[in-house]
Amino acid sequence: MLTGDLVRLRPLEPEDADAFYRWYNDEDVMRWLASYYPASLEFVRKQLADRQENSYERITLCIETLAERKLIGLVRLRDADPINARAEVDIYIGEQEYWNSGYGTDALRRMCRYGFDTLRLHSIELGVVEANPRAIRSYEKVGFQVDGRLRQSFFRDGQWHDSLLMCVLADELT
Ligand SMILES: CC(C)(COP(=O)(O)OP(=O)(O)OC[C@H]1O[C@@H](n2cnc3c(N)ncnc32)[C@H](O)[C@@H]1OP(=O)(O)O)[C@@H](O)C(=O)NCCC(=O)NCCS
Repeated sequence: MLTGDLVRLRPLEPEDADAFYRWYNDEDVMRWLASYYPASLEFVRKQLADRQENSYERITLCIETLAERKLIGLVRLRDADPINARAEVDIYIGEQEYWNSGYGTDALRRMCRYGFDTLRLHSIELGVVEANPRAIRSYEKVGFQVDGRLRQSFFRDGQWHDSLLMCVLADELT
């Protein structure tokens, strides 16, 4: 378990399936994520049952509020490269009423701290659609900077959007 100021990060459990099922089928939550198709509860349960154990290459943790222990989202470090000490991070808060209250930023900061201080990573990167200013602001608060732009790389709601490549180095995490 990893503890931040507002959240606790813990491994996924089979009982989490109902929450993931709701989030996967919530258009507002999934809008800027690379998820295209509605998911059945059966699929989500199977996905949880078949998941691999956490390891250096891929660590997936649930985000719970520290105060109420309510499950609100997910954060994942993936594709860790031991030679260059790099990894990618994904995050979302599935419970919309918990957006804009600092939970996502705290979870991201705690996961990056774990990546740098425990896994000995040197840099962590992520991709974000430019049309998602809340996410960009949250990542900037943690110390991420824009390192590149992929033009018209994301198609949503009938429109092409640019994506930004953002990165934080170990000594830049705030
Ligand atoms: C992106 C996400 C993880 C951020 O977590 P969060 O807990 O909502 O973020 P925080 O409350 O810590 O910070 C959000 C910041 O964005 C700001 N913000 C919100 N809407 C904004 C907008 N339209 N334009 C600019 N800034 C905005 C908030 O004011 C806040 O900044 P502040 O603390 O300086 O006031 C979360 O909102 C989420 O999961 N959203 C849905 C899925 C998603 O977009 N995931 C990311 C895909 S890359």
